Amino acid sequence: MAVIINGKELSIKIKYELSKEVELLKTQNVVPGLAVVLVGNDEASKIYVRNKQKSCTEVGIYSEKYELPENTSEEQILNLVDNLNKKENIDGILVQLPLPKHIDEDKIIDLISPFKDVDAFHPFNVGKIMIGKTGFVPCTPEGIMEILASQDISITSKNCVVVGSSNIVGKPMAMLLINQNATVTVCNKYTKNLKEHCKNADILIVAVGQAKLITADMVKPGAVVIDVGMNRDENGKLCGDVDFEEVEKIASYITPVPGGVGPMTIAMLLKNTIYSAKHYRKN
Ligand code: GUN
Repeated sequence: MAVIINGKELSIKIKYELSKEVELLKTQNVVPGLAVVLVGNDEASKIYVRNKQKSCTEVGIYSEKYELPENTSEEQILNLVDNLNKKENIDGILVQLPLPKHIDEDKIIDLISPFKDVDAFHPFNVGKIMIGKTGFVPCTPEGIMEILASQDISITSKNCVVVGSSNIVGKPMAMLLINQNATVTVCNKYTKNLKEHCKNADILIVAVGQAKLITADMVKPGAVVIDVGMNRDENGKLCGDVDFEEVEKIASYITPVPGGVGPMTIAMLLKNTIYSAKHYRKN
């Protein structure tokens, strides 16, 4: 039976350490600040944003929320981002994705100051990740690296398979693993023989948003399995992209859903906001 990695518990420990850093910054009259922009009525996004703000409060980060209606124009969002870029008490700007279809996400991301881009979605920060430079690191992949480190799971020379090639998770995840000297395969929905690729993985990371896509016959015995998925099963219960009950029996480590990667993503957002206040705050 696999060790079930408790991401919730790990995130609480990290948040405690971050709260100490915030206390120290406050003695220097710096209160880290995060602005969260939510456009439209996506129910999942509303929950994510609520949890992000709640965690800010827990560690002492100031946060402000801009909740805009579905029919907000691209220009209005660009104006808001422009204003937030100039606000001295705001160190991080998070525009929750997805945005409504009439908005060009790239245009919005491109306008966020690279020095307030706590999601690390701006091309400047994506480029830095590519060449292994420090700065903002995308929250979910960074949270996964922390999860692996917490169990002393080494990455060098491991066969890592990332299922899903999104800009938010799959691609930056692959980069972080490459930077740590892993051999990385990235699969997508056109991949032939997904099962064969997955079976070759020492570390299998799945981020596609398809309930129970990964079954036990696709996993090498003793593999480390990281599940980024957040889905509902046929009974409406939260579940990941991995068939947890079956894969747990053969993996060496596995993350649960909920309580695995999700809480770590939020902890890394807080870490990036504090990083920004420490390194980029002008006043
Ligand atoms: N939508 C899903 N995940 C994320 C994330 O990490 N950041 C933002 N801004 N939007 C998301």
